[in-house]
Amino acid sequence: MRDVTQDGDLEVIVRNVRAETSEIRSFVLEPKPGETLPAFEAGAHIDVFPIPGLVRQYSLVNDPADCRRYILGVKREQNSRGGSSAMHSALQEGCAVRISRPKNHFSLRSGGGRNILLAGGIGVTPLLSMSQALAARGADFELHYFARSNGELAFRGLINESAWSDRVSYHFGLVPPLLTEVIEEVLRKPGADDTIYMCGPGPFMDVVRAAADGLGWTPGAIVAEHFSAEPPKLTPGADEFVVRLAKRGLELVVPSDKAIIDVLREAGVEVKTSCEQGVCGTCVTPVLEGEPEHNDLFLSEEEHEAGLMTLCVSRSRSKLLVLDI
Ligand code: FES
Repeated sequence: MRDVTQDGDLEVIVRNVRAETSEIRSFVLEPKPGETLPAFEAGAHIDVFPIPGLVRQYSLVNDPADCRRYILGVKREQNSRGGSSAMHSALQEGCAVRISRPKNHFSLRSGGGRNILLAGGIGVTPLLSMSQALAARGADFELHYFARSNGELAFRGLINESAWSDRVSYHFGLVPPLLTEVIEEVLRKPGADDTIYMCGPGPFMDVVRAAADGLGWTPGAIVAEHFSAEPPKLTPGADEFVVRLAKRGLELVVPSDKAIIDVLREAGVEVKTSCEQGVCGTCVTPVLEGEPEHNDLFLSEEEHEAGLMTLCVSRSRSKLLVLDI
């Protein structure tokens, strides 16, 4: 039995496609005959290549104890950059699709306190996998699923059939200030080992952070998975800067309207990327000199201070940035 193709990615079969809501489809991916899928942890995601040249990240929804298949939930976004539309149109039952091995930047911690899982819309996907893992551990957890309406709930069948469906609360159509009030009621004052896990649109997570802060939760007690970072504002005419690639002895000018990765690519320097939105960490690079302007949502403050930066969305405050590549 083997489970990888030569480059470490996998080719899997789309076994089942199902409309969860008018906008959300679930995809069941299975290994090809004679192959197996790598194990994964709760909160993990995979890169999916629905069509050549396009890659998107999607969380695994299913129980990490069962890696005979991977289940994804994909919402067709109104302002799609092509990814969710391609997933909905290209991934049909029976077709093969290339995916990466699972990666995890949204892991469960081992603390014994309350685990409060807050999902905004399609952000429920990694939290479902986490719920299954927490239930298997016998952990104290509750999942709060916020959606615009009952008709926009995905994976109702999975939740209803689970042994932990009584841990799930649904909240519909809430906007601040009512949303804030409900979140405050859910969070209450933090206990020593309590953790918040959240995934959803940026404004939803901002409300959670503000409510948690007001109740005395520390930032370290909040574990978040972002869909995407705010794209950096690339302003023609603003300051450009120079990146020096220390290992190659190469200096390149990054104009005000281009990202560092674009300039590197144009110069024939290969940089591994995946999300290109500052959320996956694939392009993280050590900085030897200079002051980066961090625009990512992946690295922690400590990691920024330790001299790491993302090349897809971050820029430079100093005229020169020396990178360890
Ligand atoms: S490619 Fe994902 S953070 Fe840069």
